[in-house]
Amino acid sequence: MDCKNIIIDMERSFITKDEIRNNKEKTLESYELLYNKTGEGNNFLGWVNLPDSYDKEEHKEIKETAHYIRKNSNVLIVIGIGGSYLGAKAAIEALKGNFYNELTKDFPQIYFAGNNISGSYLKRLLRVIEDKDICLNVISKSGTTTEPAIAFRILREYIERKYGKKEASKRIFVTTDKQNGALKKLSEKKGYKTFIIPDNVGGRFSIFTPVGLLPMAAAGIDIDAVMNGLRDAYKEYSKKDYEENICCQYASARDILYRKNKGIEILVNYEPSLSFISEWWKQLYGESEGKDGKGIFPASVNFSTDLHSMGQYIQDGRRHLFETVLVLQENEEDLVIPEDKYDLDKLNYLAGRKLNYVNSKALEGTVSAHVSGNVPNILINIPRMNEYYFAKLLYFFMLSCGISGYMLGVNPFNQPGVETYKKNMFSLLGKPSI
Ligand code: PA5
Repeated sequence: MDCKNIIIDMERSFITKDEIRNNKEKTLESYELLYNKTGEGNNFLGWVNLPDSYDKEEHKEIKETAHYIRKNSNVLIVIGIGGSYLGAKAAIEALKGNFYNELTKDFPQIYFAGNNISGSYLKRLLRVIEDKDICLNVISKSGTTTEPAIAFRILREYIERKYGKKEASKRIFVTTDKQNGALKKLSEKKGYKTFIIPDNVGGRFSIFTPVGLLPMAAAGIDIDAVMNGLRDAYKEYSKKDYEENICCQYASARDILYRKNKGIEILVNYEPSLSFISEWWKQLYGESEGKDGKGIFPASVNFSTDLHSMGQYIQDGRRHLFETVLVLQENEEDLVIPEDKYDLDKLNYLAGRKLNYVNSKALEGTVSAHVSGNVPNILINIPRMNEYYFAKLLYFFMLSCGISGYMLGVNPFNQPGVETYKKNMFSLLGKPSI
């Protein structure tokens, strides 16, 4: 299929035209809750208009800071968890590939920390950066999240020892709340350069704020092209048009499938570089919809890799799932399969074929196999992966998520459930109450 825009294909979704028609009113009601800002959590909708209202001065500063980082370091460590790192990681992998750190010449290597509490992870990371020049970008909206706070404390001490306190403070960049939280206070005290996460943008919706944009710019991603994609997405997807707006189509389809007891959605990709888009997507949908005893469980697989591990279940296991497949129409890089004189592996029938051609046949074959196994498949066709389509795709998922959450009858913009583990962990650790 040749496409010039992101297109959603519902042909194999097992959803009838009548079901789609009958869901129009409900979908548009939720669409209005989002756009008119009249639904629950409406004080967290700052990301919706961001494509139109972002601060151009701040973007200039982001680019200047990225340039400074590039001039002064060969490693940038991005410290953050959840929405404070997944978007940047997804962008760097999708746009620069899985081997960015090994291949980069003009831009710093980017490592992520503070997204776990593993001692060995951080210890090994310290080994990796031993002889390198380092900058840190610590990202936390609340400024109090345990995982990034611990990593920052350790890495800050390391960098202060390495460069001295004064120089270290020029190498630390903080992305946090405008006025609250420990990080804000510390930045004031130490004179770190800070970037603001707007009050009305929650973590998992913050990729197009400095949270995602600074690490992206540091990795040489063209953030102007990202904003172009975002602006076009905003124009297209804000149209109240049930038949044409792909956000309405996707949200409506998810709602119909959920009511047909399809409680698990698997986001499928055929490109390893897209696997962190899935991680980002899982947080987005999991935290937005999984509440009040409701919600589709968001899962993901990387094909063809996981066809050798999860393929059996999807084909043949319990029928409570559906797949949403990311289909890249074009891929810049490719290789030709060579002819082999002996043909012992019996692959000569593919000699002269490109790998991406074989991959596309794996996709077609798998979609039809899973559909024949009664797994509804929604296909999201993407012309190619670049800054422009990356932004459009992620914004499409964000808007659809808002609509879909309202259709489910939950507040898509809070996450009360994530506090429970923290309460237990703090009490086990003997954290003093303030
Ligand atoms: O979506 C959310 O708000 C959360 O999952 C946060 O992204 C995550 O908990 C990190 O929070 P913070 O940026 O405050 O450290």
